[in-house]
Amino acid sequence: MTDIQTVGVIGAGQMGAGIAQVAAQAGYEVILSDVDLPRAQKGRDGIIRLLAKGVEKGKIAQSDADEAIARITPVGEIAPLAGAQLVIEAATEREEVKRAIFTNVGPLLAADAILATNTSSIPITRLAQAAPDAGRFVGVHFFNPVPVMVLVEVIRGLATTPETVAAVEGFAGRIGKTVVQAFDAPGFVVNRILLPMLNEAVFVLGEGVGSVVDIDMGCKLGLNHPMGPLTLLDFVGLDTALEILNVFLSTTGDPKYRPAPLLVKYVEAGWYGRKTGRGFYDYSGAEPVPTR
Ligand code: CAA
Repeated sequence: MTDIQTVGVIGAGQMGAGIAQVAAQAGYEVILSDVDLPRAQKGRDGIIRLLAKGVEKGKIAQSDADEAIARITPVGEIAPLAGAQLVIEAATEREEVKRAIFTNVGPLLAADAILATNTSSIPITRLAQAAPDAGRFVGVHFFNPVPVMVLVEVIRGLATTPETVAAVEGFAGRIGKTVVQAFDAPGFVVNRILLPMLNEAVFVLGEGVGSVVDIDMGCKLGLNHPMGPLTLLDFVGLDTALEILNVFLSTTGDPKYRPAPLLVKYVEAGWYGRKTGRGFYDYSGAEPVPTR
C-alpha cells in the first residue's frame, strides 16, 4: 500500500488551506500549491493566523504550531507535487478546471501515488477520465471549516481500487477524521441532502415567506442547526452552492434540483457570501447585517 509521507494540496483557498493545516498538524510534509506563489502563501498565512489563535487559547503548544507551519511549503507551480504520495485537489468546483489540473499534474506523479479530489458534487468516475490511473483516483470530501469538522466522505469511482481506498482512509484516520463511505452519485451522501435544503431556504426567501433572520433563526432554534441555512450558504459560498446544484441538475435531469432564481441572481451580482463581503448578509461592519 502507498506509504504516505508527503501530501500535495492543489488550491490554497478555504478548503485547501484547511486540508493542508490538518495534514501538517498530523505530521505530514505538505506542499500547498496554487496558480501563483502569492496565493499559495496567502493560504499558508491564514493557517499561521489560525494556529496562533489556537496557541493563544492554550489549545496548541507553540512548538507544535511552529512545527506544523514549517512542514507546509507553499508553491506557485506544480512540479514540486512530484514528491507527494497523495495529492488532493481542492480547486474551484468546476469540472473543466479540475480536469485540466489532473491532465497537468497526473504525468508528474510517482507510479504508486494517489490522486484525490475534494469535489463536492462531480462524479468521481467521470473525473477519473482525466486522471493518469482511475484505480488510484478517489474522492475525499472534507467539510468547512476543515480543522473543526470531523467528517470526511470517501468516494470510490467505479475503477478505484480497495488499496487506494484503504490508503486514503488511513490518511483520514491519522488526521483525526471519521470516514463515511459514499457511492459515486452526484453530491454523494451529505451534499445530496444538504444542498436541496439550502436551495429551498432561498426559495422561501425569494417567495417572501420569511426574512433572512426568520429563516435562519427558524432553522437554528427549530432544528438545532449550528448555523441557519442562509448563513451557511454565505459560509460555503453561493457560487459553489450554485455550481453544485447545476451539477445535480445536469447529471440527473431531475427538476427538483433547479436552483432558486434568487440564488442565481445573487451569484450574477457577485454576492457570493463571506468571501466577497456580501451574500444574504453584509459583512462590511463588525457584525453581519441581514440584507432582506
Ligand atoms: N477555521 C478553523 N476553526 C474555526 C473556524 C474556521 N473557519 N471557525 C470556527 N472555528 C473554531 C473556533 O476557533 C472554535 O474553536 P475552539 O472551540 O477550539 O475555541 C470552534 O470552531 C467554535 O467556533 P466559534 O465558537 O467561533 O463559533 P461556533 O460555535 O458558532 O462554531 C462553526 C462555528 C463550527 C463553524 C459552527 O457554526 C458550525 O458547525 N457550523 C456549521 C458548519 C457546517 O455545516 N459545515 C459544513 C458546510 S457544507 C460543506 O463544507 C460541504 C460542501 O461541500 C459544501
